[in-house]
Formats: sequence, structure tokens, C-alpha cells
Amino acid sequence: MATILGIESTCDETAAAIVVGGTRVLRNVVASQVEIHARYRGVVPEIASRAHIQGILPVLRESLQSDGLIDWDSIDAIAVAHRPGLIGSLLIGVTAAKTLAWSLGKPLIGIDHVHAHLYSVMLDTGEAPELPAVGLVCSGGHTALYIVRDWLDVTLIGSTIDDAVGEAYDKVAAILGLGYPGGPIVDKLAQGGDPSAIRFPRTLLDRDSLDFSFSGLKTAVLYHIRGVPRRGESVKEHPPLTLSESELANVAASFQAACIDVLRLKLQRAAERFNARSIIVGGGVSANRGLREALAQFGLPVHFPKFAYCTDNAAMSAGLAQVYFARGQFSSLDLDAITFSAFRA
Ligand code: KG4
Ligand code: ZN
Repeated sequence: MATILGIESTCDETAAAIVVGGTRVLRNVVASQVEIHARYRGVVPEIASRAHIQGILPVLRESLQSDGLIDWDSIDAIAVAHRPGLIGSLLIGVTAAKTLAWSLGKPLIGIDHVHAHLYSVMLDTGEAPELPAVGLVCSGGHTALYIVRDWLDVTLIGSTIDDAVGEAYDKVAAILGLGYPGGPIVDKLAQGGDPSAIRFPRTLLDRDSLDFSFSGLKTAVLYHIRGVPRRGESVKEHPPLTLSESELANVAASFQAACIDVLRLKLQRAAERFNARSIIVGGGVSANRGLREALAQFGLPVHFPKFAYCTDNAAMSAGLAQVYFARGQFSSLDLDAITFSAFRA
């Protein structure tokens, strides 16, 4: 059983964690940049990289020093999410991890961030999903389905052809004049609304498709609020509707219902096609209360991460690294930062 230090810097969280034996999280430090990016209503890559540079050493220090000192001798390996992500952001975590591995003489383990989102259901839960499982990673940057036959045997079976579902949440929140990130705000508003108030589209693509599309749904919400523009006209020429509290909640609930219907239906299709024995849902949107409630009746065991491990964190990478460690699979010190996932069609 190894004690692994994990590092995360793929997007806008600078994080470090220490995980024992792949599941027991000793430390989980996350420095969020949400406040820095909120005024732009999205992540600005250049600003994110600079914030990672400022954050990485304090975050690493805190992971080792808070709550009693953990010395370097008790760390068996250094794990880092080295793909996919923003290149400038990734470089900070990868450079820190390689420097530590080289200077301390510890093995280095490069982790795919979406792979780690799937593994996050193992952290602090004491429950391992029965395999094969269909995995859904739904976040601000990703919406994709995988078949997980083993923790190191993962195949991509479907992905979004445009927006990620979390991105749709963030954009809808912006359309409604709410804050950033939009997911938690829309989720909360939706609790008080009527999900059948407005019939927003459910884009399912071809009959057999396991891919997703959320940009049409986002546009439907935009047109609902600002009206459908005539030919040659910009939607910006239409002033937004002034919505009462309850109308706003109805838009949020109806949008959320459309997202959940699509995610549930695609999970059903995939589970049937691949004879899955369980479902894994990870990524920021897996924190969504409506989604958790809807999947409670799925008919197969559905595994969600604990709330702390839904959004980006380093514990999921440090946890997954245990599987590589146990099988003696290490990365070399020329590990690269790579913008795309290892799991591709
Ligand atoms: O996993 P994550 O931290 O970053 C990426 O890898 O993209 O996910 C962040 C995304 C954001 O789009 C945020 O709006 C969404 O997850 N999110 C939620 C909820 N909490 C976070 N979406 C829906 N409902 C939530 N409760
Ligand atoms: Zn993520």
C-alpha cells in the first residue's frame, strides 16, 4: 500500500493531495481560482497559468504541513494530472511533479485527468463499483461516456460534439444574469422550480448515438429569454425578459430536466449495449442534486464521488496512481503536458 502525493493543475484549481492505498485521503488541498475568473464568466487561460505559479508551492506546503507534518520519506511516489487541460496550466503541475520526483528520487506517475474523475468514486467511500461499468465524466470541460472493464482498461464510447454539460450550465447562468460558476447556482434555483414548465429540447442525435450535444439546449434557453431573432437580426437586439423569482426557477428547473434526461438516456443506452454491472458518474456536474436524485432509480448501482471529489482535485489522481504503482507502471522524467485525453475514439 503506497502513500502517494498527487498534483492537479489542469484548469483553474491548483491542488495537492496525499492518498494512502488508493482510497484513504489523508490531505486534500484545493486552491480555487473561481474568484479570479468570475468577472470574465469563464476561465482565462493566461491568468490561470499565472495563478498556478503563485499557488503551487503554498498548496504543496500545506498538503505536507497542515494537521501534523508528513515527511518526504513517507511519500512513495509523485502523481500528476498531465492531460487533458490548458497547456499553460498543465505545465505548472507537471514541472512541479517532475522536479519533486527527480530531486527526491521518487517514481513519477502521469495521470489522465478524465480517468481520475472516473476513479474519484473510490475515494473515502469504501465501495468499489462492479465492473464492467459505464462511466460518465460530466464537467465544465468534458462530457463523455466510457466503458471501464478494469481501472486501467478504459475505452471512450461517446463524447460531446459541442459544449460540455457544465459549460452549458455556466452559459445558461450567464444568460440568466446569475453568477459563475453557474452549475451550483442553477442547481439550487432548480430545486424551487417546475421542471415541466418549459419544454426545452432533448438532443439525442442518431438513434444509436452515445454522443452528446448541449449547444442547442443553451440556445433554446437564450431564445426563450430574448426571443427568436429574425433573419439578419442579432439576438442582442432583443432586451432580455424580466423574470419573476418563480419564472427564473422554472427556467432553471426546465433546463436542468433537459440535461438530466439526456444524460440518463445515454447512460441507459450504453449500459444496455455493454452489459454494464454498474454506473460511475464523475466530474463537477456529478455534484448536481437533480442528477443524483434522477439516477437513484436507475436499475443498476450508481456510484457518485463524495462532494469534495466531484470538482477538480488532486486526490483522484493520487488515488488512481496507486493502481499504476501496484502494477509497476511508472512515467519517465520526460513526461509531457498534453492538451487532449489519452482516451480517444
Ligand atoms: O470537474 P470540474 O471542476 O472542472 C472541469 O474539469 O471542467 O467541473 C466544473 C464544472 C463547472 O462547469 C460547474 O458549473 C459544474 O462543474 N458544476 C455543476 C455543479 N457543481 C459544479 N453543474 C451542475 N450542478 C452542480 N451542482
Ligand atoms: Zn475536471
